[in-house]
Amino acid sequence: MANQRAGILGTGHSYPEGILTNADLAKMVETSDEWITTRTGIKQRRKAAPNEYTSMFAIRAVRQAIERARLDPADIELLICATVSPDQILPSTGCIIQAEIGAHNAAAMDVVAACSGFLYGVSLADSMIRTGQVRYAVVVGAEVLTQYVDYTDRQTCVLFGDGAGAAVLGPVDGSRGILASKIKSDGRYEEQLYSPGGGTRRRPTAETLAAGDHFFKMKGNELFKVAVRSMTEISREVLEQGGQKEEDVDLFIPHQANQRITEAVADRLNVDMSKVYSNIAVHGNTSAASIPIALDECVQASRVKPGDLVLMTSFGGGVTWGAVLMRW
Ligand code: ACO
Repeated sequence: MANQRAGILGTGHSYPEGILTNADLAKMVETSDEWITTRTGIKQRRKAAPNEYTSMFAIRAVRQAIERARLDPADIELLICATVSPDQILPSTGCIIQAEIGAHNAAAMDVVAACSGFLYGVSLADSMIRTGQVRYAVVVGAEVLTQYVDYTDRQTCVLFGDGAGAAVLGPVDGSRGILASKIKSDGRYEEQLYSPGGGTRRRPTAETLAAGDHFFKMKGNELFKVAVRSMTEISREVLEQGGQKEEDVDLFIPHQANQRITEAVADRLNVDMSKVYSNIAVHGNTSAASIPIALDECVQASRVKPGDLVLMTSFGGGVTWGAVLMRW
């Protein structure tokens, strides 16, 4: 039925066993647990082993989410994998997941929007469910970002971790579901966070590999300010669009990029820190996986209850940003 609101019916997450602590990093680059903790809030991050790849974590998260939604993979009509660290260029990681779980009735694809990828996917799934084009969709954010991290660059190597989080969406009744969603990007900020090598513009050669062109390059300081401003503004926009007030937010899940960014956005939105979920200390920044991992942790810990107003917002390379407001 068209125009029925979409809601989240099940969530799941998965991450590698391997842990990289601040102490481990301090043996690799000139840094310290004290610097990383005070500047970012991160204490450890998960790191995939060389034989582990993105779809492995995505598949576990998706299976869990579908099971908890009490659905069958064949019920899924749309499968979106948000990632900037796909298994391979072709086919999409979405198609690889689809084949592995047996979601044969789905259209599967990847969304490349860095840390905003999950909310981009949720926003697209919401539109397609509301317009009646699909009934059930799964959105998974999955990354093995540590593959693209230069472990000689102390500014970036301390930040990123690996993992996957998934959510199944479908039509819901009553006051539940997604009240508003918004996604935005501004490609003029490309060089604030990018990996220049490996594609058709700067093709992979022995020289580009040796120069580390495939690694992430980041202007962290500039990104910090744009991230705070963009997440604050877009959160206000969805609150207004959804007819809700900042003080009514029960659970705020921002993209886990930096604890100081989280606190700055919460402060500007007047959301008390007791309503803010943070897992950055144990996961670091898992890009597209960050919000769905956090959401599933909240669900499993009963941190979110029926009727709660949940606000999620993200910011990432591109630059891209987004927000989703929902009644749980
Ligand atoms: N250990 C010790 N010192 C360090 C480290 C480190 N790991 N990294 C940087 N420093 C030094 C710098 O060299 C600099 O030294 P200097 O003053 O002698 O030049 C000093 O610390 C301060 O550096 P800043 O870059 O100003 O530090 P800042 O407080 O901005 O923190 C950080 C850096 C953590 C990267 C922060 O800017 C940040 O989190 N930025 C946002 C990242 C982000 O949101 N990315 C987008 C999403 S990710 C995605 O889309 C995949």
